[in-house]
Parts: sequence; C-alpha cells; structure tokens
Amino acid sequence: MSTQGNIDSVLTEKRVFECSGAFRSTAHIQSMADYERLYQEAETDPEKFWGGIAAELHWFKPWDKVCEWNCPWAKWFSGGEINLSYNCLDRHVATWRRNKAALIWEGETGEVQTLTYQQLLLEVSKFANVLKSLGVNKGDRVAIYMGMCPALPIAMLACARIGALHTVIFGGFSAHALVDRITDSQACLVITQDGSFRRGAEVKLKPAVDEAVPSCPSVKNVIVFQRTGTPQTMFGGRDHWWHELMAHASDECPAEPLDSEHPLYLLYTSGTTGKPKGILHTTGGYSVGTYITAKWVFDLKDEDVFWCTADLGWVTGHSYVLYGPLQNGATSLMYEGAPNFPEPDRFWRVIERHKVNVFYTAPTAIRAFMRFGAEWPLKHAMKSLRLLGTVGEPINPEAWMWYRENIGRNRCPIVDTWWQTETGMIMIAPLPGATPLKPGSATRALPGVIADVVTREGEPVPPGGGGYLVVKQPWPAMLRTIYGDPQRYVEQYWSQIPGMYFTGDGARKDEDGYFWIMGRIDDVITVSGHRLSTMEVESALVAHPKVAEAAVVARLDDFRGQAIAAFVTLKSGNAPSEELKNELRAWVAKEIGSLAKPDDVRFSDELPKTRSGKITRRLLKEIAAGGEVKGDTTTLEDLSVIARLSAQEE
Ligand code: PRX
Repeated sequence: MSTQGNIDSVLTEKRVFECSGAFRSTAHIQSMADYERLYQEAETDPEKFWGGIAAELHWFKPWDKVCEWNCPWAKWFSGGEINLSYNCLDRHVATWRRNKAALIWEGETGEVQTLTYQQLLLEVSKFANVLKSLGVNKGDRVAIYMGMCPALPIAMLACARIGALHTVIFGGFSAHALVDRITDSQACLVITQDGSFRRGAEVKLKPAVDEAVPSCPSVKNVIVFQRTGTPQTMFGGRDHWWHELMAHASDECPAEPLDSEHPLYLLYTSGTTGKPKGILHTTGGYSVGTYITAKWVFDLKDEDVFWCTADLGWVTGHSYVLYGPLQNGATSLMYEGAPNFPEPDRFWRVIERHKVNVFYTAPTAIRAFMRFGAEWPLKHAMKSLRLLGTVGEPINPEAWMWYRENIGRNRCPIVDTWWQTETGMIMIAPLPGATPLKPGSATRALPGVIADVVTREGEPVPPGGGGYLVVKQPWPAMLRTIYGDPQRYVEQYWSQIPGMYFTGDGARKDEDGYFWIMGRIDDVITVSGHRLSTMEVESALVAHPKVAEAAVVARLDDFRGQAIAAFVTLKSGNAPSEELKNELRAWVAKEIGSLAKPDDVRFSDELPKTRSGKITRRLLKEIAAGGEVKGDTTTLEDLSVIARLSAQEE
C-alpha cells in the first residue's frame, strides 16, 4: 500500500493482455508507436491536432480560432458554424450511407424497428417542424422524459437541428426530480410517452409529467409519444399526441447553422450538494470530441453494429448511443428493456439476433451477469463480437476477467473508459488495436487529453502513489459551465486544485503511465454507475415529517459498486419501526427516484458531529461497512458515545 497525496491505493494487478494480431491489422490505430506519436502531436500543437480532426466534420463556416482559453472559460472553434444534427444525418444522406441503418431498436416485447439515415433524417426534420410549430425557438430548453424508444433520439436530434437545448431526464426519476430540473432549466416544452416496458411491466411516464407540470409555469406544451397504448388523460391546450402532430408536419427542415459555442444540451448530474447541477455542453467542441473518441476507442467501422447499453437519460447515452456513433455513420443499437427479461440471457440474445460487433456496458451489469452464471452467455456463440467496453465505475479485475472470458471468449479486447458527464467524451481509455490491457485499469489518457494524478497543491504524485485525478488542459467536449451558476462551476471544478480541472476522483498512475481510478473522493455515491450526492438523499429524508436529521454514507456493495446507508434521527414522539423504515425508503424513491432508495436505514438518537456541527461521515462509513444489517434492523444504533467522542475532534 502506498500513501501519497493523502489517498491510499491498495490495488495491485500484474496481468497484461496484448491485442491480437488479427484485431490490430484492421484497427484505426495499430500500435503504441502510433498512439505515442498522436499523443505527442496533440501535446505539442493542440490547435493543429484538434483542428485536423474538426476538419473531418461539416462546417457551414470555418472557425477562426481552434481554442480560446481563459481559464476556466473555454471557447472551441470560435467563429465557426456547425450543426450536430447535420453531421449525424445530412452528411451521410448525401453519400452511399443514405440507406444504411442508423438506428436499430429492439423493444422489450421483441419487436424491431430499423431507421436508415434517410428515414431518420425525415423523422427528425418533421419533428423539428413540430417543435417550431409549438413556438420552440433557438436557445429554448426542451425537457425530455422518455424511455428507450426511437422517438427519444428523434426528439434530441430535432432539438439540435433547430438549436434548442434538450435536457433529457432519466425515466427512473420521480415527479419531484422532474420539477427541480424543469424549473432550473425553465423548459418551455416537455416530451414524454405514455409508458415504456421493463421486466414485462409498464413503467408509466406521462403520470409523473402530469404531477410535475402544474408546478412548472415555464412549460407551455407537452408532447406525448404513444408506446404502450395505455389510455391517458390529455389536458386540452397543453397536451398533444406525437403522432397527430407528426401527421401534418413537413419533412423538410434545413439544419440551422449554429455558432460553435451555441449551447447544445443540459444534463443534470449530482454534485456534493443537494441541488443537481445542469451541466452545459456546447455544439462544436462536443461534436468533435464525441466523433473522434467514438471512432478511436470503439474502432468503429462501417460494417459494425455498435451497442452501447446505456439509457439516453445519461451522458453515456448522449455521447455513445447517439451523437458519437451517428457522426461516424455507424449503426447504433438501442434496446428498451431489462437485461434479464424474460430470462438472464436477453442481452446475449440481442447480440446474436443483431450480430452486434462492439458492445459497451457498465461494470454493475457485468457483475449482475456473473451472479446469473456463465451458463447464460455460454448458450450463445456471439461470434460477431470483436470489441467490448465498460464505463461508469471502476471495474474489479475479477469482473474484467469474467467479461473477457465469458463474453469476449478471450478474443475481444476490453476498453475500460473513464470519463464523466462533465467531460462529455471519453478521456482515459485504451485504443484497442494498440494499448496493452491491464484488468482494472482505464490505461492511458487519449491523445489531446492531459490528465495527471496530483496532490492537493497540484504537485504530480510519483508512480504508484494515490492522489487527485485532474485534467491540465482544456479539451473540446468539456462542460462550459453549470447552467445558471457560473460561480459554482469555478468553485467545484477549477478552484480546489488551482489552475486544473478537478474530477472529484482519486487515482494512481503506475510506472507505465496507466491510470487506476479509485473512485470518488467527495460526497458523491455511485450506485450501479449512477451518481447521487449524499446531500441529495439527506435532503429528501429530512423533508419527511417524522425525520429530524439524516446522514447518508456509501458502503461497498458487491454488485452495484456502492449502496446507500442512511442514519436517521426521528422527531420526538416517533418510534423506530420496520414500517417506518420502509416508509422512508419509499419516500426517497418518490422524492428522487428508486435508484436513490437507501439499502439500509438505521435509527439513532444522535448523530456524530464535530464541534462546528458537521456530521462525521467517516465514522458512519465505518459503522455502515462493518455492520450486517440483518435481523432486527429497527434497533437503535447507540451513536451517542461516538457523537460525544467526535465532538472533541475538529
Ligand atoms: O467516479 C468516476 C466514475 O463515474 C464518475 C462520472 O459519473 P457520471 O458523470 O455519471 O458519468 C458516468 C459515465 C461517463 C467518474 O467521476 N467512472 C466513470 N467511468 C469510470 C469511472 N470510474 C472508474 N473507471 C471508469 N471507467
């Protein structure tokens, strides 16, 4: 174990896997020498490097300057005019790709829908006209609350086409979470659907919009896509059926030339406070960053079927279900439902049915598959697979090896990709035809990404030592600000370690310059790859009428990475009980969404605090980690002793 930069690093993994000659021979980047050359070129002359990549896309007007950097404010390709929807659609429709599948969608119920580039362009153009007819203008915000169905990417691309900002809100969030996000973004329109299928049941979506919108005066219209056919109450003057509006819309809508720095979308994510942050991405830089990383990291080829299993409600869906693959003219697969429905081999069936070549998923899913057992993937030959990827949290070497052996059959490289909602694009990852792989490491920073592990003071930590993961130079797909809160942008990302972008993650670098991500070092919890802040869950708990105080910490969970443990002090007159525990869990699910439901709820008379009144989460973490919460879970934790002790700490 080494202790440097105040973070301990314990993981040591010695295995190395070289890429096979067969994979290498057709890869976009075929050797470490090529990687090193690109990395050097990008470091020496970033303007030339990024300018060269940007030139592969379509620009209505060329840029004047590749990057204007006034730390922490960046402008990429300033003066240039571009449209991401154009680069995803029109650019390909003008070529032989016109009749190539852009999206293949499989519903949980088994039906398949394929949209060629031409068909998708027509749908997007029609929907862009629908948006305009409802008064949506360039710069307006549009909230999208949908499941995984083709209407969702159509809606996103239509917004991008006219320069409206989409803010996609994951369908698992509650009506309360919708209100927060719609209010912060001041969205004028909500796009939703009746429901979506998951695990054989309907996940209802429109009812949450009906609950939320009366508290959101900015919303003038709601568009409802019909997926399940469940009857809906439609509010006159406000609600419109998607299919009715589309029936009358023209399929011609030229893409709007947009300034490179025109805002593209907002995506809300958790930080260290109770209030989710609207991460703002802009057009030109995000297009360039997602285009090249999709091409290099997934080694995308025209023949490939690419399947990123992320929901479009998360950044992974934005960048690698939709924008990255489509800019590359690839075929991207979307699946609506649960990985284990009707049986635990659904994903492997999907891979066989559509002959998926590149498969990108989350460690939490891989650990779930391990639990279901290798017999499920082994029923399927999955010969089409040539490359695997992971994202969202550190992958433990055991899961990495299982993935390699049982899914990749020891034939497919694995790209462990590190990045964030804020980075917009993959930052640290192998180039699969070049980089030797080490299980559990995201390997090296991509060309053009200057990442490092440093101390609190910003000093580089020598190889082997743990420290803070930072990025030292701007990159094109970086967030530009937190919507409506530039001060928080400066403080959260650029002030903790002066002059550098602070990721919130701890990491170490080994002697080969490989990064080993150790996870969040702030109060952010990663449950099944989804970010939640402890404060957010605490705020939800204390909003319950019986709760006086709450503290939430993460504890390790074999399958989901981290689980949520809540310590709750009740208002006088209320007694702990199993019912109350369940009530509180359900309450949090209602306030935020079921992904935030605490796994353990423990009642206590007192919470340990410092003299200045800060809850000492460190102690609670130890309790949460140590204690099996089986049996009588309503027992009062006697934290008063610890509380008195920690009151003496400062
Ligand atoms: O802690 C890191 C973890 O996920 C965080 C970013 O979460 P989010 O913005 O929701 O985006 C997830 C998908 C891009 C990071 O700060 N993380 C992401 N990828 C990895 C990872 N941790 C370890 N290894 C990864 N490959």
